[in-house]
Amino acid sequence: MSELPPSEPFVPVPPAAAANTHTSAADYERLYAESIADPDAFWAKEAERLDWFTPPTKIANWSFDPVSIKWYEDGVLNLCHNALDRHVAAGRGDRTAIIFEPDAPVGEARTISYAALLADVVRMANTLKKLGVRKGDRVTIYMPMIPEGAVAMLACARIGAIHSVIFGGFSPEAIHGRIEDCGSDWVICADEGLRGGRTIPLKANVDKALERVAVKGVLVIAHTGGDIAMKEGRDHWYDALSADVGAECPCEPMGAEDPLFILYTSGSTGKPKGVLHTTGGYSVWIASTFWYGFDYRPGEIFWCTADIGWVTGHSYVVYGPLQNGATTLMFEGVPNYPDHDRFWQVVDKHKVDILYTAPTAIRALMREGDDYVTRHDLSSLRLLGSVGEPINPEAWRWYHDVVGKGRVPVVDTWWQTETGGTMITTLPGAHPMQPGSAGRPFFGVRPQLVDADGNVLADEQDGGVAEGNLCITHSWPGQMRTVYGDHERFVQTYFSTYKGKYFTGDGCRRDAEGYWRITGRVDDVINVSGHRMGTAEVESALVLHELVAEAAVVGFPHDIKGQGIYAYVTLNAGIEPTDEIVTMLKQQVRTEIGPIATPDHIHLTPALPKTRSGKIMRRILRKIAENDFGSLGDTSTLADPSLVDGLIEERRNR
Ligand code: WT7
Repeated sequence: MSELPPSEPFVPVPPAAAANTHTSAADYERLYAESIADPDAFWAKEAERLDWFTPPTKIANWSFDPVSIKWYEDGVLNLCHNALDRHVAAGRGDRTAIIFEPDAPVGEARTISYAALLADVVRMANTLKKLGVRKGDRVTIYMPMIPEGAVAMLACARIGAIHSVIFGGFSPEAIHGRIEDCGSDWVICADEGLRGGRTIPLKANVDKALERVAVKGVLVIAHTGGDIAMKEGRDHWYDALSADVGAECPCEPMGAEDPLFILYTSGSTGKPKGVLHTTGGYSVWIASTFWYGFDYRPGEIFWCTADIGWVTGHSYVVYGPLQNGATTLMFEGVPNYPDHDRFWQVVDKHKVDILYTAPTAIRALMREGDDYVTRHDLSSLRLLGSVGEPINPEAWRWYHDVVGKGRVPVVDTWWQTETGGTMITTLPGAHPMQPGSAGRPFFGVRPQLVDADGNVLADEQDGGVAEGNLCITHSWPGQMRTVYGDHERFVQTYFSTYKGKYFTGDGCRRDAEGYWRITGRVDDVINVSGHRMGTAEVESALVLHELVAEAAVVGFPHDIKGQGIYAYVTLNAGIEPTDEIVTMLKQQVRTEIGPIATPDHIHLTPALPKTRSGKIMRRILRKIAENDFGSLGDTSTLADPSLVDGLIEERRNR
């Protein structure tokens, strides 16, 4: 394993910011100890954050070998009820649930109260019922970052339909694959999306996807009013179809283990997996991590900049804030449109209290200089959060010093699509910060570091200073339950590398102070601007092209994106490499997966370095892509060692 630079010095939370938080250092130690000593008691208590139609009497019931995970299994509840109805019933209907800030600053912001959002969701839920959507049906949602996206998710939760949200940047081919994989009969989309002044042809993409897979109905929300095609009998305008639906729609009573949503995510092999989350455990986990993790105080405005197409958007744009009765800001746009101060202008305009964003955005904005930040009044900020990839100390410091003016704590939250919500983070009132380190485990989380052979190097209970592969040894309520339709893949992917443990796929170091510092993926997953990508997926997209014989894709360090995509491609015999082919191949990946998967470099090579038994030497390809030619290791086992010089030569010239 590579040498990590030493940990950064601790940065204390300013006393003013550490006062009156939900959790002091002593609270954290006590609560964490309780959550480990008696998880059932701890999670029974946390479940009281929610309304249950039938409160659970069984709390945890899980095993990692064989793999079976249940929480709150005899409880009955509905997530939408907890997000909306109970707040309205308690007289808090006038509070703002969603502030919507459109792509262009000239557009009018909208605020939607809890009562109004409930009415919107009921209308959507009844419209879905009118179409024929039933409990347990899979509903694909392909929407821009507009309130109707959240309404669609909540409406599904209300009637017990399982939503599968697809990020608006994914291609028709990706939509097709996901609809087919989960057998979704229904699609909710907008006519078009807007991002950074550009139009995203959402409905047209859905139409293309549906050339290859049939659905029963498509519900179309008019957003831009752009010209789109509607297919008779299949496609319905939401406004027209919802005009006569009733204003009542009771929440479907859901068993705690009834599926809530599927979210596709990339792994190191094969097609993206349908990560399945269920109702009870996820609800509790998100309600709890939002409350403690962001130290949320009623009345505050919370802005998570993630798209609802990713898990961060599910958990901390929609479900976490709403379950806590918070005001959540939904932003349709991008950080640098119309100018590099867009984020800071939005913070100022809406007096945002808590900002939760990704290192890639921080780095991109940092590069543009401090003026963009300092020209706005950011005094409303009380807490800053980071998520999605390791944050480099330089970006951390800029976030802390320039955006937070040194008076605002920064929390770095490590988690995954699979974990539902935050797993490792400092709590603002409890812990000093350490740039680049996520910090301490959340309640009930039992991280452990193992070496390649599974020997335990360090864990939270016995301590230890080590670097290794990060596992979690005990279940937590927000854990994914299975890969939709493929439980064996769930077992193989997460529980077979180290039997009886959940393996995260991340490398990590635990230091003497008990801070956990994520070093990045140790598998063939790369993290491009906080978007997770499987190298195998990009390779499959490339080899689909008729000119391509073989492809090997690796990540390389990228100043802004964290990691970039580097693709080595060999063409079929007799094909001359040209710039046109490179352009075509980039286009090929965009078409198959989406723009976020576009390779930064396509390196055409006459052959790939292989062992004599024909195995591609990815380690060498990674080093060359990283411009690290000095430590290629042993190349003598290569079938053709001379190949490496040519690859290096070509890389140097880029
Ligand atoms: C992978 C999960 C967390 C939701 C958004 C991404 C990396 C995530 C951090 C962090 C270091 C992080 C890990 C993880 N990651 N947060 N704070 N520090 N690395 O969810 O798409 O499922 O990706 O993102 O490598 O395994 P995801």
